[in-house]
Formats: sequence, structure tokens, C-alpha cells
Amino acid sequence: MKIKFLLTTVAVMVLCINLNAQNKMVLNAEQGKYQISKHIYGHFSEHLGNCIYGGFWVGEDSPIPNTRGIRNDVVKALKDISIPNLRWPGGCFADEYHWMDGIGPRDQRPKMVNTHWGGVVEDNSFGTHEFLDLCEQLGTEPYICGNVGSGSVEEMSKWVEYITFDGESPMANLRRQNGRDKPWKVKFWGVGNENWGCGGNMTANFYSDLYSRYATYCRNYGDNQLFKIAGGANTDDYNWTEVLMKQVGTRMQGLSLHYYTVPKTWADKGSATQFDEAEYYATISNTYRMDELVTRHSVIMDKYDPQKRVTLAPDEWGAWYNVEPGTNPGFLYQQNTMRDAIIAGINLNIFNQHCDRVKIANIAQTVNVLQSVILTDNDKMLLTPTYWVFYLYKVHHDATMLPIHFVSNKYKMPGNNSVNIDAVSASASRDASGKVHITLVNCDPNNEQTVECDLGKFTASNISGKALTSAKINDHNTFENPNNVTVMDFNSASINDGTLSVKLPSKSVVMLELQ
Ligand code: AHR
Repeated sequence: MKIKFLLTTVAVMVLCINLNAQNKMVLNAEQGKYQISKHIYGHFSEHLGNCIYGGFWVGEDSPIPNTRGIRNDVVKALKDISIPNLRWPGGCFADEYHWMDGIGPRDQRPKMVNTHWGGVVEDNSFGTHEFLDLCEQLGTEPYICGNVGSGSVEEMSKWVEYITFDGESPMANLRRQNGRDKPWKVKFWGVGNENWGCGGNMTANFYSDLYSRYATYCRNYGDNQLFKIAGGANTDDYNWTEVLMKQVGTRMQGLSLHYYTVPKTWADKGSATQFDEAEYYATISNTYRMDELVTRHSVIMDKYDPQKRVTLAPDEWGAWYNVEPGTNPGFLYQQNTMRDAIIAGINLNIFNQHCDRVKIANIAQTVNVLQSVILTDNDKMLLTPTYWVFYLYKVHHDATMLPIHFVSNKYKMPGNNSVNIDAVSASASRDASGKVHITLVNCDPNNEQTVECDLGKFTASNISGKALTSAKINDHNTFENPNNVTVMDFNSASINDGTLSVKLPSKSVVMLELQ
């Protein structure tokens, strides 16, 4: 295996020297082994700012077109990118959420303070029934995150029973009393969130034991099989992964990982729209760090679980900037530019490449919070550049990942020629109908990149593509100009004698279809 890898790498290098071209790629179309789970393209909706309230939920009496209180425009937009799963209710909110407050007649539900996010009143009008209705309208799988930090084992156990049990029981009967006869199906179940921080400030040892205890009582009712995801590491806390794998191992089906791209520091993260090239470079360089994190956490997981039965789940990823000036600092509302599209494209290529271990991931968050795919303002809605990356990458859902070897040209740090990152990121897959898709990101904001790809034994007679690019890296969509950054047809790719040649515009995300 290693020798094969070395030989291919040497072959790629020789090819580079000989042809003196920029980016060299070899597509190993016959070596596809792992499926890119569509759940890598998951989303996240927390009771935070205007994600749930205003973003998804407007209430049945709203003049904004809705179905049982849920915005029709948002549902349509998310259906168009086939979102495979939706994580809820947090985030940090999950570990202070008591699900029983969010069932029954809405006007009788107790109110609470959302202490994490702006100290606002949470009236619990969006609860379990509303969330699962949203998932049904979207045709997406729910990913519910239970409360370990401030909730009891009994409370979590009863939540699973309430949602998924079909027989005669106190919780199933309560669900029926609240208007839902048949149980829902729920697969993805988070046992706490960030339990090293907002989810209880625990040590890895302590949380491992708690995970085991809580998870024991999250039962599989009937044919509903839970896929339990343990609260995982913060960024590079490899000890957390080590302890969880050692102590819990395959009693969990997934282990989460949280990593956000922050351009500057946590105290001053940088603006979403106003940044110079040095800050842009730092942002993209920090994005590439995801590859190292996934690789190193995977190495630890391989040690305890060589058969890869436990999924690494980066269930919070994306860019985190300073909030938009004048908005509530606790609402995490930020604009979304072409830079965010580059960030999304690189992260998704990384997850595709690691699909043997990464089988679920969730961008944070879906609407109006952090790296959103949708922004709303009352009855208005816009699709961000990040949305269009999810649109382009839909082709990878459940396709077979095709290994590639890539030698990329470098994008150099402004003012320091000796520091650089790869200018081009890529991943490839073959779908059920035999079409091959390649997604490429050129993060270089100043230069077009030419990619030459040896297609090996794969022969294609037809090539088409779509691209997302813009004049300036901080271009974005506004409610006044919602289509400033949007996808377009891409015609700068051709195939000659088994070699695919592509001219990637500067700062672009491109999807190619070969058949
Ligand atoms: O996504 C915002 C917050 O970031 C989440 O609530 C938390 O899990 C993370 O720290």
C-alpha cells in the first residue's frame, strides 16, 4: 500500500517537472472504496439569536408564508440543497434545555432565560413536535442533542421514549395526548455537547463515565436504532479523544469534534466583510487546519477502533467572526462572503477525503447564526455564498470517494514568500449512475490556477461544470442585491488524450461533471 502510494507520488512529481505546469492531479477512478456519507453535508440549528425564532419559526399567525408556523421559503431553499440531517437544539443551549418545557399547548409552556445566548426569554414555542415537523417538511433526518450538563438520566431516557416508542407507556401516551399518535424515527442522538466547556466543564474521564450512564438508558425501541454521538474534543484536545476511545470505545457510534475557523483571536475575531489580504490568508490557513485535526484524531481512533466503527463527527464547523456592528453580541449574526464559500469548499473537500472515518458533519449554523447558508430579515430571505457551495457539492452525497493525488501550486502569505498554503483543494467521487464529479477550490485571490489531471483508466466523452466566483473576495449578497454572488455555468475545462485541463478563476469553487 505504502509502496503504491510512494510510486504514485513520485509519478506525480515527475509529471510536474516534465510538463512544468502548475497543479498536477491524478484521479484513481478505479480505486474507489469508501462512500461519502451524505450526512457530511449536515446542518445545525440552535436556539440562538434568530436561527430558530425568525429563521425557521415564525408561528402560525405570521403574515410570512408558513406551514404550521415554519417558514416556507426557508424549507424550500434547504430542500433544494437536500440537507441530510439537522442538529438541534444546541450547542450550548442543549445542556440547559429541558424538553418537557417544550411540549403541550404552546400558550401553557413555561418560559426560561437563554443564559448562553443574549439572556433573552425563551418561550419554548418551538419544541420537540415543531422540530420534528420541520424535519418532516425538509425530508431530513433529525439529530437531537440531549442534556447531560444540567439534565438527568431519567429526563434523557424519557425523551427517547416520548419520541420513538410505539407501545403503551407513560411517555408514548403523553405524546399521543399532545397530538402525535405514531412515533417518529430518530437515529442521530447526541449525548451532551462540549462537555469540556459549556456542557458542564468536565474532565474527559468524568464525561466518559457520564456518557456510559446516560447512553445506557437511551433505548432502541422497536426498529428505531439510535446512533449515539458522544461529546468530543475541542480542536486539538487529543487527550479527550484518547480517553473517550479507551473508556467508551464502540459503545458510542460517533465522537464529535468542534473546530471553528477564526481569522484573528477569540477576543477580536475579525470582521465578516472588512478584511485585508493578510487576514484572508490567515483565515484560509486556519481552515486548512481541519485536515490536520481530522487526521490526528483519526490516528487515535484507529488505534482503538481499526475497523472504523466509530464515526468522527465534526458536528460544529465553520467561520466565526465578530457580530455585525449594531447587532446583539449574543446572537452571533454575521454576513457571509466569497471568503466563506472558499472556507466551506475546503472543509467539505477535507471531509470527503476522510470519509472512511468522517461520516457526519454539521456546519454552524443554518440560518442567521455564524456561517449561515441562509439569512432572513422579516419576510425577506437570501442565500449566502456558502449556500451555493452546498448546492455544488450535492453531487457527492452518498457517492463513492475516488482517491486523488494532488500536487498544488502555492498561495503565498502576503509579505512573506516563505510561508504558503495549497492554492487548490480538491476531492472527487463517482455517483450511482457512473458520473464522476470533481470539486476544486482555488483560494488564491489574485491568480487563476491551471490544473492538469491525469484521468488514468477513466474515459469521459462529456464534461460540464458550474462555478462560484466573484470580483472581490469580500463580495456578498444583501437583501437589496441577493444575487450578487451566485453559481454560473463553467466552461473552462477540456479533456485531451486522457488529460483533463481546467482553468480555475481566482477565488473560486468549481464543480465538474465527467461522463
Ligand atoms: O455554535 C455556537 C456555539 O459554539 C455552540 O453553541 C457551542 O457548542 C459552540 O461553542
